[in-house]
Order: sequence, then C-alpha cells, then structure tokens
Amino acid sequence: MRNNRYPSLLTVPLIAATATTAASQLFIPFYGTSANGFNAPPRGWNSFGMQARGGTTFTLNQANIQSQCDLLNATAGYTLCSLDSGWSGNGGDQFGRLVPDTSLFPNLTALANHLHSQGKLLGIYALPGALSGDAGVTVEGTNIKLGSLFDTSQPSYNLRQTFDFSKNGVQQWHNSVVNNWAAMGVDYIKLDFMTPGSPDAGETLPANNSLAAVAYHKAIQQASRPMRLDLSWKLDRNSAADFFLWRGNADGLRLDQDINNAGQSTFLGFSTVQRTIEQYRSFINQQEEDPARQGTPIMIRPDMDNMYTGNAQSLTGLSNVQRYTVAIHWVGAGANLITGSDLSQLDTLGRELLYDPEFLSVADFTAQYPMQPKNPFGTSNPGSQASEQLQAWIAGPNAGNKNAVVVLANYGPDLGQGGFNKNLQGVQLVNISLSLLGIAQGQPNGAPGWSVRRVLGGGGSGGPDHGDLGTTRSFLASNLGPGESVLYYLTATD
Ligand SMILES: *[C@@H]1O[C@H](CO)[C@@H](O)[C@H](O)[C@H]1NC(C)=O
Ligand SMILES: *[C@@H]1O[C@H](CO)[C@@H](O)[C@H](O)[C@H]1NC(C)=O
Ligand SMILES: *[C@@H]1O[C@H](CO)[C@@H](O)[C@H](O)[C@H]1NC(C)=O
Ligand SMILES: *[C@@H]1O[C@H](CO)[C@@H](O)[C@H](O)[C@H]1NC(C)=O
Repeated sequence: MRNNRYPSLLTVPLIAATATTAASQLFIPFYGTSANGFNAPPRGWNSFGMQARGGTTFTLNQANIQSQCDLLNATAGYTLCSLDSGWSGNGGDQFGRLVPDTSLFPNLTALANHLHSQGKLLGIYALPGALSGDAGVTVEGTNIKLGSLFDTSQPSYNLRQTFDFSKNGVQQWHNSVVNNWAAMGVDYIKLDFMTPGSPDAGETLPANNSLAAVAYHKAIQQASRPMRLDLSWKLDRNSAADFFLWRGNADGLRLDQDINNAGQSTFLGFSTVQRTIEQYRSFINQQEEDPARQGTPIMIRPDMDNMYTGNAQSLTGLSNVQRYTVAIHWVGAGANLITGSDLSQLDTLGRELLYDPEFLSVADFTAQYPMQPKNPFGTSNPGSQASEQLQAWIAGPNAGNKNAVVVLANYGPDLGQGGFNKNLQGVQLVNISLSLLGIAQGQPNGAPGWSVRRVLGGGGSGGPDHGDLGTTRSFLASNLGPGESVLYYLTATD
C-alpha cells in the first residue's frame, strides 16, 4: 500500500525549523456550554434528505418517521429524531400555536413518548413569526390579539408574519408555543429562515428576525423540558451583533446553504461538501482571529447540515473516501452529528462512520476542542489558515497539552465552490510539521513527542483504520487521493 512508502515518516529527526513564525502562537478555540445548557452537539437523524430526494417513496408521516428513528443507535448517542418542514398544519390552534398536520401525524405525543421510551428525543421544525391567518386569536393567558403583535412593515412569507418584538404579548406567545411543545414531548427546535442570512427561497423574508432567537430562548428557559435551539440557514456571520445574539440564545448555527441535491436520486455531490468545509473554515477562523472572541467559549456549535455518510455511493452520491471525508470533517468541527442517510440501508462503512466507538471518543474531544486549519508544506504560506486543496487541521491540544486531533486532507480539484481554486490531480502527499501545527517541543502547546493513533485512514491511500503508528517528534504526513482525509488522535509522550 502507498502509505508504506514512507515507513519512517514519523521518525525523521526534527530539522531546523525556519517556517515556524506563523505557528508559534497557537490560539485554541473551544466551545464550552451552549446557551440552553448543552455541552456537546446533538447526534441523530433528520428527515429532510429523504423528503427532498427525487424518485423516492419516502413520505413524511408518523409511521415512516418512527420506523427510521427506531433504527437510530442510541447506545452511540444518536438519539435525536428531527422532523423537517411539512409536519405542521397551515393553521394554528386556538392560541395561534403550530400544531401537527394530523393527516400525517395523527398523534405527535405518542411518537414523542415512543422515542422517549428508547432514550431518544423528538425534534420539530418551525419558522420565526406566527401564521398570518391566526391574527384574530388571543395569546394564551392574555387579552392580546396575536395580529396586534405583528410587524406589518415586514413582508409576510410562507403564510407567516414576523413580530414587533418590543410589544407586550410577544414573549407570552413564544412561552405558550414552547410550553405546548414541551407538553407534547418536544426536545429540539430547528428554527429555519432566520435572518440576516437565510436566502430568499422564492419569497422575500423579513430583513432581521434575530430577536426570535431571544424570544425562543427565554421561552425555553421557562419551559418544563430542556430543549435545544438550532438556527438555520446560511446565517450571516459578518454581523457581529447578530452572531453574539445567536451565541447567547441558541445552541446550533447553520453555516451554509443546503448540502443535498434536491430532486435527484442521490443525496448529494462532493461540490457542496467542499463548499460546506470552506464555510466551516471561515467560521472557525473568525472565532480564532477576532480579538473579541479569543479566549472565550464559542458556545454555539456549527450546523454543517445533515451528514450523509450512512449509505453506499449509489444512494449517497459520494465515493467511500468522500464519505470518510464528510465524517472526519463533521466530527473534527464539533458540528451537529445529524445524519440524513436512510437508516434502513446503512452499509458496513456507514455503521462505522456513524457508530464506531473510537471515532465517537474523538467526537467527544472535538465537541470541546474544534479543529482549525493550518496549511501544510507545499501551499502558498505553510502554517497559515487559508483555503487550500491540501489542508491540515488541528483540534486542541486540551488542558495540559495531553491530547490533540490532527486531520490531513486532499480535497481534490476545486469543483467550483471549494474556495481554494486549485486543480492538483491524483494522490498527493500532505505533510505538516509539529511546529506549524503549534505542538512541537518548546512551543507553548508543545510536547517532546506525540504518539499517533490513526483512527480513520480515509478508505484509500491513507492506510487502514484503527492503528498505532508510533511516536513523532517532527512531522505528520500521509498520501491522500482526491477527496480523501485521514484522522489521527495524538497523545503527548515524554
Ligand atoms: C515532510 O516535510 C519535511 C520538511 O520538508 C521533510 O523533511 C520530510 O521528509 C517530509 N516528510 C515526508 C514523508 O516526505
Ligand atoms: C451501536 O453503537 C455502539 C456504540 O458506539 C456500537 O458498539 C454498536 O456496534 C452499534 N450498533 C450497531 C448495530 O451499529
Ligand atoms: C395520543 O397519544 C397519547 C400517548 O400515547 C395518548 O395518551 C393520547 O390519548 C393520544 N391522543 C389521541 C387523540 O389519540
Ligand atoms: C438585527 O437585529 C438585532 C437585534 O435588534 C441587532 O442587534 C442587529 O444589529 C441587527 N442586524 C442587522 C444586520 O442590522
């Protein structure tokens, strides 16, 4: 195998380091506890990929959701059963609260109870604002008409109207909505079409409904069940005021557009995977480079959209090495681990990428310490954090500089949205020094050596999964084919 062409790569002596300036100060991003009290991203399944896939027999309804979610491996922490759009009716109840479309979900409480009996959780999908058609109802526990709370200077969209958040009654309505969900057994809210950010999807959106995150957060705080709040989609991270507001109120933040290719027989292509990884790179760089954020927990975890790693190429639309790359990057980022795959058709690799205990222990690490890029040798500016076809990433080290995670990747030629605009063909050596990673002996986060465990080899040239490679005092390097990544877990040695 190709990886054996470099049997000594971990034992070459440390050469005089000349290109270390960029890496001499490693700023380590970390997540901490999120606004609604969570210390790790959710793991689970979301229905959207199966709903959006073309030529599919999948219908969003209670029976089909239950049979998918019965297959979730709760032992591996995959507990969230998340409904996407389409579960609710177009008119609310007597208090203007979203209710299930009973032709599809005859008894959502029964579904929630069923999931809870397996240690699983129910997620629902909502849009900011209330249904315009419910303007005439009274907010529960008040004499306030729902319609009097609307901000009619903003466009209505998807049958909804956003609020004038300064008005008395707006918070009471959100409390009533969330209390109703709590009574049904809801554990997770995906709030879609948040702005600034969400692109118009055929309708003009309100310019800024950020304050919906605040109202839902306050409502969750007073509710009888814990709930996560995930904000979607493509949120505008250039607005610092909004980022800090989202960080202080929600638990997940969708970085990018939908990753899946709607209407086709496969779930996705690698072009959107490259784009989403690039969005994560810019997200984590922003946390790392902004002095106002350094040294403080990021709290809100990235939502890189559903993770499509579970099914064979004919259904997923990715080769096996590309499936590894998705798994490695979603885990490396400490992102939501919510698969969109068809759980009734997992193959052997799909089970490993979702449920392998060693890989999940790496996910526990990156749930605290997400990876940041460090450009390898052979790029324009080794040690910097630019978009590159050949990339290295480091997560951690953790307190005491005991452990770190390193990912090496060759994304293959830029398919148009990768941001790196390079076109290297075939297998490439991805090689980076410990000093460029910021963990060489003598650096603030360094150690005399690091013992290297290859957790996932990437399915091609990177070598087999689950193997000890020995100790490095100098470099980490791997041959990687187009679209391929490898993930190492490092432990400091004397
Ligand atoms: C990685 O790069 C360093 C510095 O150029 C070099 O000494 C080392 O041999 C390279 N590793 C491999 C496996 O080529
Ligand atoms: C479920 O997850 C556990 C823990 O990660 C794992 O050991 C087990 O093999 C998984 N079961 C299946 C059916 O994949
Ligand atoms: C819905 O299911 C719950 C829990 O199983 C049950 O208590 C309730 O009676 C059901 N409601 C209806 C309308 O069938
Ligand atoms: C959106 O609204 C929030 C809350 O009022 C505000 O802090 C933020 O600056 C606004 N964003 C933009 C882009 O105007």
